[in-house]
Amino acid sequence: MLIVGNWKAKVERPQDAKRLFAAAKRVAEKKKHDIVIAPPAPFLGLLALGNRTKVHFAAQDVTETLGGAATGEVTATTVAAAGATYAIIGHSERRALGDTDAVVLLKVKHALAAGLTPILCVGEHERDADAQYLNDLRAQLTSVFGALSEKERARIIVAYEPVWAIGKQAKDGITPSDLTEMVLYIRKVLSEFLPARKASALPLLYGGAVESANIRVLAEASRVDGFLVGHASTDVTSFNALVKALG
Ligand code: PGA
Repeated sequence: MLIVGNWKAKVERPQDAKRLFAAAKRVAEKKKHDIVIAPPAPFLGLLALGNRTKVHFAAQDVTETLGGAATGEVTATTVAAAGATYAIIGHSERRALGDTDAVVLLKVKHALAAGLTPILCVGEHERDADAQYLNDLRAQLTSVFGALSEKERARIIVAYEPVWAIGKQAKDGITPSDLTEMVLYIRKVLSEFLPARKASALPLLYGGAVESANIRVLAEASRVDGFLVGHASTDVTSFNALVKALG
């Protein structure tokens, strides 16, 4: 399984970042799971530059600009040069700050051009009885997949993250059966953009309230290829517990 630890802005001290990296290395050495960590940008530079460990690195975002005169922005090229091989794009916390589908597409394109693997986050804000949320999800996927070549599409990892579950505890997260349904739906949408074999091979992650209490049952019930983990990845004890629970 692929486990992506999204540290968000929760890890603020280099000593904490180093401790979490050491824990990730121990897990990655065992080779049971692929581990990707997404530190805040300065710690990406601190930990990932010249990285020769089995842990991989993701940027939490890349700029939609082309760089140059863009104070405060960090380009896909820069994070790749700093050692990232993945980039989380379209996270709901970025979308809440103004990333539209058009911006998300630009960022995905920049990430691809820099040789990064985009982890494209999609997910509904809430579930309505009329299943409008399925259309919203389809629109988020279509706005990116519809604008890329088949070769580019096949390089994307999709992370399904329902916004209502993010930051919650496992007990308030998605049920295994709802996740199973969503995985089927997302694969169906993807099959409109890729040949069947490639659509089913595209890595699909789940994120939102993934903790040691629910990771195993979610993995067993649905056909996800891994998890995008927020808060449970930002503390060594909960990260280790999570990996142990996954088995
Ligand atoms: P959470 O966050 O695990 O804290 O719910 C997941 C995410 O936002 O990627």
